[in-house]
Amino acid sequence: MKQLITVLITIGLMGYGFGVVAGPEEDRIAFQKYYTSRFSDTPLDDFINGIYSIDAPSREQWEEIEEFPPYEIDIEEGQVLYETPFANGNSYATCLEDGTLKARHQYPYYDTQRQEVLTLELALNECRQSNDEEPLKYGKGAIAQLSAYMALQSRGEPINVVVPDEPGALAAYENGKEFYFSKRGQLNFSCFDCHGSSAGMNVRADRLSPALGHPSHFPVYRSKWGGMGTLHRRFKGCNEQVRAKGFKPQSVVYRNLEYFLTYMSNGLAFNGPGARK
Ligand code: HEC
Repeated sequence: MKQLITVLITIGLMGYGFGVVAGPEEDRIAFQKYYTSRFSDTPLDDFINGIYSIDAPSREQWEEIEEFPPYEIDIEEGQVLYETPFANGNSYATCLEDGTLKARHQYPYYDTQRQEVLTLELALNECRQSNDEEPLKYGKGAIAQLSAYMALQSRGEPINVVVPDEPGALAAYENGKEFYFSKRGQLNFSCFDCHGSSAGMNVRADRLSPALGHPSHFPVYRSKWGGMGTLHRRFKGCNEQVRAKGFKPQSVVYRNLEYFLTYMSNGLAFNGPGARK
């Protein structure tokens, strides 16, 4: 596994002037192979279930929870928010029609005009702002409920993130990848140290989930949060766990991280919203 980290980081840091022909697709194949070889009892498409894909006892409890999902109310609230017109009479549906808002499974993507990664939550707020509404607070609450409602519509759609062959897109991808493999915080842990090398092991009361499939089921209802949270809320929490600085949800770093991490799960399916401990 050390080898994989080295290979991935080397690929990432070598850039494109060194004659090394390796890019996102080579990374994705290596990444998926790492998890499918380590957890050979888990079929590839089951990694979308986080820790429950590799931990049979907790999976049973979770399947019971999913029979009466704790996020159901949030989906309903999300639908109401989605359908309620803005003061000017338009709504999120208007943005969907004019193409400024897309379906959940079309995110994240690299916008070649704007030269940046766009995510669902960012687009929801931009839709509001273009209709003279205040942006919602990122991370939890209404934005997570809207995201949950839209995630439900996209259940079963394949994850298919594209990295267009242009310097800006590759740079965004590389930035997310570098973030993922960089050690940080007082504990000096990278994301991969916990969700790669140590996946399946225990940290205090938690078993660490494999990173493959991580973005598929967000937003999630977490008992610990007592409500819904977005993927970037989770990123921040994980950064802070190792006593590193958390970044703001929807900051460029976290959008690039989402871009890289979602690309790694290409070929799996979206299955949000989810329920977690
Ligand atoms: C010190 C170990 C540790 C580090 C480092 C860490 N995490 Fe986590 N992470 C956890 C624990 C514990 C959980 C909750 C149990 C689980 O699902 O793995 C979790 C959960 C998650 C989840 C939710 C999984 C799900 O199925 O809902 C995501 C996504 C995630 N982490 C991403 C990251 C990212 C991205 C980084 C790097 C910025 C990171 N983590 C760094 C410990 C860590």
